[in-house]
Amino acid sequence: MIVTVLLLLVALCARGGEAEERAAAPGAGHVSVVVVGGTGDLAKKYLWQGFFELYVQQVASGNSFSFYGGGLSPADVATPLLFDILKAVSCSKDASEERCALLRAQFLRLAQYRQLKTLEHYQALAEHIGRELQQEGIAEAGRLFYLSLPAFAYVDVADKINKSCRPTGGAWLRVVLEKPFGHDFRSAEVLATQLEDSLKDEEMYRIDHYLGKQVVAKILPFRVENKRFLDPIWNKHHIERVEIVMKETLDVKGRISFYDQYGVIRDVLQNHLTEVMTLLTMRLPTNVSSSEEVLQKKLRVFSSMLPLGKNQAVVGQYQAYQSTVQQEMNRTKDHVSLTPTYAAVLAHIDEAQYEGVPILMISGKMLDERVGYARILFKNDVFCLQSSDGVHCKPKQIVFYFGHGSLQYPAVLVSKNLFRPALTSAEWKEVTEHADVDILGLHISDYYVQTPTEQKEAYSELISHIFAGCKNNFVSAANLLASWGLWTPLLHSLAGTHPRVYPGGADNRDLLDIRVSGKDVGYTSEVVIISADQMGGPSANSFQVMQGNFRGGDMVSAWPEQLVERLAADMEAAAEAAVREGGVFHLALSGGSTPLALFHRLALHHFSFPWSHTHVWMADERCVPPTEAESNFRGVHDHLLQHVRIPYFNIHPMPVQLNQRLCVEEDRGAAQYDKEIRGSVLGSSFHFVLLGVGYDGHTASLFPGGRADGAAEGLAALTESPVKPHRRMSLTFGAINRARAVALLVMGKGKHELITQLSRVNDKPDKWPVTGVKPADGRLLWYIDYDALLG
Ligand code: BG6
Repeated sequence: MIVTVLLLLVALCARGGEAEERAAAPGAGHVSVVVVGGTGDLAKKYLWQGFFELYVQQVASGNSFSFYGGGLSPADVATPLLFDILKAVSCSKDASEERCALLRAQFLRLAQYRQLKTLEHYQALAEHIGRELQQEGIAEAGRLFYLSLPAFAYVDVADKINKSCRPTGGAWLRVVLEKPFGHDFRSAEVLATQLEDSLKDEEMYRIDHYLGKQVVAKILPFRVENKRFLDPIWNKHHIERVEIVMKETLDVKGRISFYDQYGVIRDVLQNHLTEVMTLLTMRLPTNVSSSEEVLQKKLRVFSSMLPLGKNQAVVGQYQAYQSTVQQEMNRTKDHVSLTPTYAAVLAHIDEAQYEGVPILMISGKMLDERVGYARILFKNDVFCLQSSDGVHCKPKQIVFYFGHGSLQYPAVLVSKNLFRPALTSAEWKEVTEHADVDILGLHISDYYVQTPTEQKEAYSELISHIFAGCKNNFVSAANLLASWGLWTPLLHSLAGTHPRVYPGGADNRDLLDIRVSGKDVGYTSEVVIISADQMGGPSANSFQVMQGNFRGGDMVSAWPEQLVERLAADMEAAAEAAVREGGVFHLALSGGSTPLALFHRLALHHFSFPWSHTHVWMADERCVPPTEAESNFRGVHDHLLQHVRIPYFNIHPMPVQLNQRLCVEEDRGAAQYDKEIRGSVLGSSFHFVLLGVGYDGHTASLFPGGRADGAAEGLAALTESPVKPHRRMSLTFGAINRARAVALLVMGKGKHELITQLSRVNDKPDKWPVTGVKPADGRLLWYIDYDALLG
């Protein structure tokens, strides 16, 4: 049954609906809305209310609707459930009782339950829609499928929709999906690829309901409207720190089967808080309504984030969590879940504008209050001796208050000692009458406060955007993968970490307080007693470093993180000793991925490393321009050199590119490097050479079958690699074996077999080049992680 009612025309693409969005508004016609999972929790709490509001808005637009609640249960079981939900939808305050009753009755008449389990069910739905259209003789505008389902069902349902429910005749298809979109980078990529088989990108609407929150949607417009005040202060010189916080009082009872696999970082930080972070820090687009431009600017933020590692996060778990897991998942008492329910993460953006500005993202369950906000706290250069009540003595801050907490309504708050924000949209108003509350250290009367004239539910907002075809407030595949790219390494490095147990609510007191020190974050109170039965056996992360010997050298072995910490500390000690002795430290570094963690460690933790007296040389180089990602120098530059204060003239890349060509013998690049070393390094003896070992036993760019005795060729030589890029430049054994210390860093299970072989074979540099590394007067140091050593 199809009812068309004409009342008034409603602007479709809400908030900032610019030309681009309006153009996407659908022409009048029939719209079929299918909520798959239509009797589930989300549908009950938000979705049907959102679709009812859409109906109320659109009832006058000339569009007609039908609504289908779909599910796996047969219709006789689920129909009453669906109608109980539908009967509970409510009208806005300004609708009269009669009008509301009329609209609700119409809405109920347009709705029905459909069993959607098999492909035949979907085919039957499509046939039903087709029949209705024909009987009523109306054109079809589009079909909206809202998949309110566990993510594992997405691919199958998308496939069924694609096979049976595509509209014809130019009508649109929109399929709405909600997180979790994978649980790490790889799985998100797989899911994206699988969905692409059934749906076009423009047909998919990935929801992050935070983007539908009015205050979150206001961040970019606010930045634009107040550009002239913000431009001078939105930078590292003025911002003290950024905090994006979502605190909840609830636990996760009833959701454990989902939650235990995800935890707070995947559930909230990777999506909601990250979206807010990018909106706050992205460069302003020239057109805030251009989804393409906004996406490009967001992606740029991701590409300039410093990597997140274990030292950039603390995790916690509320005490009752274990027993809920045991109950809901039918686990025995000795089952231990390490899933965090609280996390605080410290991020940094490696761009001149935000260099050194701490960005905290924090969320947790079972905390003392329910509140969400993003605060930009500015530096205060005023020192108040006696007049601490004076306006300039108080915190300077802008708070995007998502709702709840002591304020109880969404608002943008600007401390009065900053500026009075512009008020340019009729959808926002200034609040002047306040309850007596403090918000983040300031009395409410110390702020200019703006709030939406009418409060709207995030889902209702997003549903009207989907209907209008506005893609702005949805998560694109590129954005999603970039976000997983940021979070996945942190999640991996936290695997096996025991979260700090907290009692919940006000009793948490200072247990979850954190301290930012440099680029690291940690709990402020260190002593926590966790009983053994709460947290299970010994941690895989317990600090253990083993010393020994390997192939005639000293060996250090540990878990990867401790190994890298130890090597970085040894390098710093070698640097300090060399500088003390001769005023200079000559360090030769290798490329590849193994040393990247070491480079990060050096850049983020070794602030007293004597970089100003250090010369950095390359142990080997690929014959590619230094701008290419494959270039070893590029890796050393991006991951280390650009983050430390080393004089430019102390940096010595290998001259692989001469006369606009790469590694041509007659350009004599290797001889040039040889000369440069001889001219700068006393006795051509580097203080420290860092090398890796390849699966085939190669080291630097000295490969099996190559000429083992490089001494005759000088300190550097052109070599050939069996893998691409084939041409290389390398320090020779002659140069390496003159060094005072040579460190060989070997990590990962994949190197276990090699290490086992190396522990047995004699020196055979033509077969195992690394066995030719034998410093004549220096030390040979092996750094081998447990995975490589023990397999
Ligand atoms: C959801 C998370 O995405 O967001 C929940 O899965 C969380 O764990 C919820 O409770 C919070 O949303 P809001 O709108 O209440 O802040």
